Amino acid sequence: MYTRDPAFWRAGAIASTLFMSAVLVILAVNSLDAITPGGSHVPLYDVINNQISYSYDSARGEYVPKIGGQELLFNHEYSETEAKALIGKGKMVIQSRACMDCHTFFGNGAYYAPDLTRAWLDPVWAEYPGTKRGDAMAAFLMHPFRLGYHEMPNLHLSRDEAQAAVAYLKWMSAVDTNGFPNGFGVAQAK
Ligand code: HEC
Repeated sequence: MYTRDPAFWRAGAIASTLFMSAVLVILAVNSLDAITPGGSHVPLYDVINNQISYSYDSARGEYVPKIGGQELLFNHEYSETEAKALIGKGKMVIQSRACMDCHTFFGNGAYYAPDLTRAWLDPVWAEYPGTKRGDAMAAFLMHPFRLGYHEMPNLHLSRDEAQAAVAYLKWMSAVDTNGFPNGFGVAQAK
């Protein structure tokens, strides 16, 4: 019987490893289009010059970000290069201050504080008359005040650091997450 021959099983193991490796390569190349800025799911960095909203797409049966007309951040129109640098700095601020120790991004992180994937869209930022959404959010990051969950500690961000983090969060809110729920996993304060 050929099934008694170790060479048969060796050949089977090698063939399936090669096949699955090829599948992995195809999947990786295929998802690059979705995860690269300017690809199908991630906007270019200069999306921070635009209005971003979130609405129900009945064809897809899920909420999707919608990119609207111009809505400048900090009264400045960023070129793609400037926006990329600012968002890169925001990423460094977010990593160095370990925001993920309390928050989640795309559901990854800690569950103490709200998911930040769509924090840009929180209606609370529009409740400050005379203050633009981006400025209200940067002010919050520099001097956190009680929003309703637990209290966020003051991380002593400079204005530049807070603005860079806001740019990162605005850009992130425009990422198409295939319907990942908005306002996910918030631990409620007792
Ligand atoms: C020690 C825990 C902790 C850390 C670290 C932390 N936060 Fe927070 N954050 C909170 C809590 C708690 C809230 C909710 C505040 C409230 O409800 O009053 C919050 C709220 C927020 C909000 C408002 C969310 C919304 O949906 O309106 C933003 C934006 C935010 N944090 C950004 C950040 C950023 C950016 C960092 C890193 C630079 C960070 N946080 C680090 C605990 C933290």
